[in-house]
Amino acid sequence: MTVDNDAMKRADARFHLHPMTNPTEQVSRGPEMVSAAKGIRLTIDDRTVIDGLSGLGCVNIGYGNEEVSKAAYEAMRSLSYCHTFFGYSNGAAAELAQRLAKLTDHTFEKFFFASTGSDANESAVKIAYHYWRLRGEPQRRMLLSRRHSYHGNTVVATSLTGIDHYLPQFGLPLPNLVAHADSPYWYKYGKGKTPYEQGQEAAASLERIIEEVGANKIAAFFAEPMQATGGMIMPPEGYWNSVREICTRHDILLVADEVVTGFGKTGKMFGFQTLGFTPDMITLAKGLTSSYFPMSAVGISSKINAVLSSENHDFEHGFTNCGHPVGAAVALANLRVIEQNDLVAHVAQRLGPLVATRAARLQKHPAVGDTRSLGVLAGIEFSVADSEEENAAFCNLVIRAAYERGLFVRASAATLHLVLPMITTVEDAGQCFDIIDAAIEEAYAARSNRERSIA
Ligand SMILES: Cc1ncc(COP(=O)(O)O)c(C=O)c1O
Repeated sequence: MTVDNDAMKRADARFHLHPMTNPTEQVSRGPEMVSAAKGIRLTIDDRTVIDGLSGLGCVNIGYGNEEVSKAAYEAMRSLSYCHTFFGYSNGAAAELAQRLAKLTDHTFEKFFFASTGSDANESAVKIAYHYWRLRGEPQRRMLLSRRHSYHGNTVVATSLTGIDHYLPQFGLPLPNLVAHADSPYWYKYGKGKTPYEQGQEAAASLERIIEEVGANKIAAFFAEPMQATGGMIMPPEGYWNSVREICTRHDILLVADEVVTGFGKTGKMFGFQTLGFTPDMITLAKGLTSSYFPMSAVGISSKINAVLSSENHDFEHGFTNCGHPVGAAVALANLRVIEQNDLVAHVAQRLGPLVATRAARLQKHPAVGDTRSLGVLAGIEFSVADSEEENAAFCNLVIRAAYERGLFVRASAATLHLVLPMITTVEDAGQCFDIIDAAIEEAYAARSNRERSIA
């Protein structure tokens, strides 16, 4: 089938309402059409670039994998759909739940399946509410999260999110639902303190909020092991120990949102394993299927499962596509690809150290304020002026210059985000940093020239 690209661009501009996009600009500018992707490379409007963001931090195994594609095809042929309500199941969903229990070292006893990171978090909220009602504390309705956090886009997931610009268009957060603790964002908030001290202060802010709200009104604390969308914020040593201890002392459920950090990007299968803490629930999406199929999951600990199983009544929560047999088959194939190619060890032993070294080396540049990394996840925060707007504008210049040189990356405020697919070779990873280095030089020279011409 031949596709008339120009006609499709016009159709897109006319009929497609895009997420996270300025609709007016989109109509006048038209879309950038992605026509193909293979391995770590994307073809966008006839240009091939390295995808330094793994899609939206989701394509852990890269694009166009034959084994996963075949698994999807075969699953669709043999059982294209089957619901999992009223006790029905399918082999792939059952096997996937068992695999996830094993991969999480049985920290989680059972897994609930859904379709997106947002509905996984939404489901975790409902599980927490159900848990507290069964424990005789139905008044535990408040949820805690952190500033700079991102937990998705349904109404409750947006309310949990702590990045300001996502909320006001929709009059969120919902009233009396969420309180945000401080983030362990040392570069922004830790002037004059060590990262450890700032991390302890951020943990203490959680305890302060618990005391203000009252522990007996709080259902759960939601947190990403490292905050990705909010700026690639890496928790310092000691932070998670303190947070776990505070949640345990106040009997508050700790939910690790591993939608980004799951499935190997941090150098272990899950972020909680890399950072050394034990959550009560975990939410997973993206890397579960490397986004070859929309699928997500919530893992619940034996403590929660014991309470949920204590009631002889239906669990009144579920979606049409829970435990989808094609999604589960794709997830199992994706996990096989990760294991058979030793991709987690590749991140731990090769990509992670390379990303850490090359990111740290960028600090020599006067435009770079801070660099942070964990496994294949990295943030490069720029500081060329006192104003946040100017720093963000500079970051966008760098991103455009990187794109012109063949690397696709993204900005959040003044931080450049890099999420290398786990299949990236050491040579390609080195090339990504060469491009970023050159893009910073180019943007800095352009800025200096502009300042000279104004002076
Ligand atoms: C940490 C985190 N949680 C939840 C979500 C929401 O996932 P989805 O977009 O699949 O709903 C995201 C998406 O980027 C995320 O980064």
